[in-house]
Amino acid sequence: MFPMLRMRRSRKAKVRDMVRESMLTVNDLIYPMFVSEVDTSPIEIKSMPGQFRYPLSMIADEARAVAELGIPAIILFGVSSHKDEVGSSAYDPSGVVQKAILAIKDELGDDLLIITDVCLCEYMTHGHCGIVENEKILNDPTLEILGKTAVSHAQAGADIVAPSGMMDGMVDAIRTALDDEGFQDTIIMSYAVKYASSFYSPFREAATSGYTFGDRTTYQMDPANSDEALREASLDLQEGADIIMVKPALPYLDIIYRVKTELGVPTAAYSVSGEYAALKAASLKGWLEEKAVVMESLLAIKRAGADMILTYFAKDVAEWLG
Ligand code: PBG
Repeated sequence: MFPMLRMRRSRKAKVRDMVRESMLTVNDLIYPMFVSEVDTSPIEIKSMPGQFRYPLSMIADEARAVAELGIPAIILFGVSSHKDEVGSSAYDPSGVVQKAILAIKDELGDDLLIITDVCLCEYMTHGHCGIVENEKILNDPTLEILGKTAVSHAQAGADIVAPSGMMDGMVDAIRTALDDEGFQDTIIMSYAVKYASSFYSPFREAATSGYTFGDRTTYQMDPANSDEALREASLDLQEGADIIMVKPALPYLDIIYRVKTELGVPTAAYSVSGEYAALKAASLKGWLEEKAVVMESLLAIKRAGADMILTYFAKDVAEWLG
């Protein structure tokens, strides 16, 4: 006890660094990118200053810039010129994401891992993540389309597919579809634990994926629940998920911690658009110091148990880490 024991001894310079328990490195980072076949020049997303939708013609160059910073992976979201009631552009071999994958792989090969978001909301007129009938989001008819979408991404060269629609059985449907087509090595990163969060609204501006009626509460999780997160993650693992994602990140550190400690599987955390917008806005106002709060936030996500972090700050962080 005090005065023999003094915690401050190990907080001195150098010693402080030696006893540090968690670390953030460039290898932890995944950068989300929006690729558009609608725009002809980069469009800055109003609610996410510093983030852009890039036209197809520029995506490979932008991806190169990311790879050159040492960031190992990107996740791609498509902005499509065609939306309908069955999300047909999601699995079109010449859809925006498929073309983007081909262009990036052509430029960079294995120098950058490509993760693709597998969801239908960006390709549906109503903006929901599944087939809709009488304003109901149908689960089972959606699964086949998700399988086809994942296969089309794998055919174009995606390394990892990331289903984000929170449909029951989606991982099984995708694993089966991929294996049937010979894509046994394509990794599935499941958005297993995705909350119905108000922190996604800037993303919906970025990806033009807002919905025209209702909300996403019949498929995304209740922010009040934690045990349910473990059930969701366990089911996805049984269905063949390789990596489990928790989303959002900062308000859900307890969930990241539980998934990592109780299941012991590769765990990704998505620090979402609203987290970026909040830190960015306060920084732009001069109310917070950007680099300090971003590094602290990401370190906290690592400390909670995340093995990797999807963050819109990835390029800045890679530069700050040098
Ligand atoms: C698609 C999807 C969303 C996000 C990732 N994939 C939006 C949503 O569920 O409404 C959100 C990402 C972010 O906010 O940064 N289903």
